[in-house]
Amino acid sequence: MAQAIPPLPDTLPADPLPLVAAWLAEAARAVRNSTSMTLATVGADGRPAARMVICRGFDAARGSFVFYTDRDSAKGAELAARPWAALVFHWDVVERQVRVAGPVTDVADAESDAYWASRPPDARAAAAASEQSRPLPSRAALLARIAEVTARAQGGEVARPKRWGGYRVWAERVELWVGQPGRAHDRARWIRPLTRHGDGYAGGAWSGTRLMP
Ligand SMILES: Cc1cc2nc3c(=O)[nH]c(=O)nc-3n(C[C@H](O)[C@H](O)[C@H](O)COP(=O)(O)O)c2cc1C
Repeated sequence: MAQAIPPLPDTLPADPLPLVAAWLAEAARAVRNSTSMTLATVGADGRPAARMVICRGFDAARGSFVFYTDRDSAKGAELAARPWAALVFHWDVVERQVRVAGPVTDVADAESDAYWASRPPDARAAAAASEQSRPLPSRAALLARIAEVTARAQGGEVARPKRWGGYRVWAERVELWVGQPGRAHDRARWIRPLTRHGDGYAGGAWSGTRLMP
């Protein structure tokens, strides 16, 4: 029989981020692709858009989540117009959902370079060849572009295109949800003030509230 999934602590922790870290670690043991998350952005026209991306970094001390993409993609254009995002992780087998929302900043070039260097060669070539979200006449055209990028590198490293890099979502709101028997699910939300600090944000004290599910 499946193990019962514990509810949130009766007394909510002052800071939700250590719990987020623990949930991410447990999800990594329990499911494939545990770092996949839905990223929602809003366009200049005020309309929302959502898609999956992979969380490539979680900083529990500062409360930030990093993903990498093409800055010239649809999401990149939306973030340039409105640098705010919402994230959702959902792990069905542990009946947990994590929601995050807050402002977004660019990851520094040196950090994007380091992550780019860690990617396998075929992933680098594919990312360099794909002007993400632009029309493509055929799949063959994409494969030809990848072959061209690979040939141009002549067995060397494919350089990170300037348009490709990371974004950091700063948690201003965190909501944790856990499924419970009889649909008496458990849910709490934490909010904190964020102020600009260096190239990112600094967070004030969290305020947590249990919510009806
Ligand atoms: C599980 C999964 C993970 C993905 N991870 C990424 C990612 O980390 N970065 C990325 O740019 N696209 C990723 N994608 C593709 C995006 O969902 C999306 O199709 C692409 O980024 C274009 O989105 P846009 O046109 O809204 O910018 C992923 C797709 C799936 C299904």
